[in-house]
Order: sequence, then C-alpha cells, then structure tokens
Amino acid sequence: MNQTQWSAFLEADGKVHIVELTSGVRKIKGLGVLDAIETFSNIKMGEEVLVGQKVLTRVPFRLPELSKGMLRRAQTISAKDAGFMTSRLGIGPGDRILEAGIGSGGLSMYIARVLGNSGTHVTVEPRNEHAEVGLENLRRVKEGWSEFPAHHHIEGAIEDVVEEIEKVSDEFEGIILDLPEHTSAIEAVAPLLGIGGRIACYCPVTSQLEAAWIACEQAGFEIEWAGELIERQWGKASKGGVRPVNGPFGHTAFLLVAYRRN
Ligand SMILES: C[S@@+](CC[C@H](N)C(=O)[O-])C[C@H]1O[C@@H](n2cnc3c(N)ncnc32)[C@H](O)[C@@H]1O
Repeated sequence: MNQTQWSAFLEADGKVHIVELTSGVRKIKGLGVLDAIETFSNIKMGEEVLVGQKVLTRVPFRLPELSKGMLRRAQTISAKDAGFMTSRLGIGPGDRILEAGIGSGGLSMYIARVLGNSGTHVTVEPRNEHAEVGLENLRRVKEGWSEFPAHHHIEGAIEDVVEEIEKVSDEFEGIILDLPEHTSAIEAVAPLLGIGGRIACYCPVTSQLEAAWIACEQAGFEIEWAGELIERQWGKASKGGVRPVNGPFGHTAFLLVAYRRN
C-alpha cells in the first residue's frame, strides 16, 4: 500500500478535493489543469496552497474527507446510516460481508474501513456505469489507507450470481442490501447468512421497508430493529448561543436489521 499516493485538500467552505499524487500535467476535476506532484508534493499536512482562486489546506486522507470528496453517480449512503448499519451488524476485523448494489461505493468505504486487512468484502452490482464509480472510490481507499479487506466484486443482479458469491464464501456474518427490490434479493441470499449473522436493508420508501420486513420473516430471520434515523444539526446563532440550524429535516431511508438465530 502506498499511503502517500493520495491526498485530500480542503477549501475554506469545507469542500474536499481528493487528488492522486502522480506526475504529469492533467485535468483534475474542480481544480483545473495541473501537475499534481509539482503543485502539491511539497505542501505539508495543515499547510495552505493557492490553486487558481482557491486556497486549499492539505489534510490527511481519512474517511470523512474521502466520503465528502468521493465520485458520485448513484445515490450514496452517508455517515448517519452507514455508521448505524455497520455498528448494528457489529462488523469488524475478520468478518465476511456481502453488499449489493455497490452503486457509488459510499457505503462500501465505511465497510472497508471497519473490516480492515483481515475482513472479506464482496460487492455486487448489475450496472457497469455504477460499478465503475464505486470501484474507483474503493481503489482510492485501497491505495490511500494502510488496511483494506480482501475485496471481490461480482457483476450482475444479486439474485443471479449466488453461485459466484459462494465461490468466494458460502457464509457471511453480515449482508447489506441497498437496491430497489429487496424481496427477491433476500430470498436469494438468505441461505448465505450464518447463524448469529445480521442482514440490513436500506429502504428509501415505506413499501420497500414493508416488503423487506416480510421477506426477512419468511426467510426465518427475526426483525431486530426497523425505523428511521433523524439527524438534527445545531449551529451558532448570529446573536449568540447555539441552536438547531434552520432548514428541513432530510429523509434518507428507512432501515431494517434482521437476525439469524438458528
Ligand atoms: C442507491 S444505489 C447503491 C448506493 C450505495 N449503497 C452507495 O452508498 O453508494 C443502488 C444500486 O443497486 C443496484 N441494483 C439494483 N438492482 C440490483 C440487484 N438485483 N442486485 C444488485 N444490485 C442491484 C443499482 O444498479 C444501484 O447501483
């Protein structure tokens, strides 16, 4: 692993640019045409550099920066829900985790982070244009961090690739599904969840939650938790004090966690 190859640069407003420190003049999205090595390699952590009109601070390449500065295509899962799912599933080193679809890889980065070197992470995705983005985000993680799990990516709808998944592992400690149609996916992968393992479903609308709930029960799993996490951010008030910031409560998704007891 080469921890110096990637770096993060922060604008004053918190916008993050993730830059691969390779030589040669090239276009870097949001920063223009430049040679990354010439421009950035002498900038120390915490130091500022002027690029065009932008003042950038070089900061370590950590998960929050990477998540903010990631490439995006499909709708991504962010810290609020990713943190909940990884902790409710109890994911940690040595675990085997199955995830579909990879989409932009937003959730995948959180999974990779908690798995570390000793885990196994299987991602599945039918749409190549999504997988390309997700896999590029994971490449950054793999090359930029000191630990990364054994990662296997399988192309296809999860219902159609169970045999390929089984070639990597026939049992998983955790399964996370973020896809439009949960029922058929749950039916297909239920036999892969080991005893004591948990499955999480990310369901943007209530009909998906209900369908996932029923499918998990039919698969013999116990519903451990279902619901929604509401995040309410606070800020400094202009006349002093701190208070909830103006703005709507955003909805991301309803989450369901189910347990395989036996
Ligand atoms: C909202 S995106 C996932 C985003 C991802 N969790 C993230 O954080 O970036 C949903 C993905 O599921 C994929 N998908 C749809 N049906 C699927 C299936 N049957 N099996 C696997 N993936 C599927 C879609 O192509 C899409 O990329």
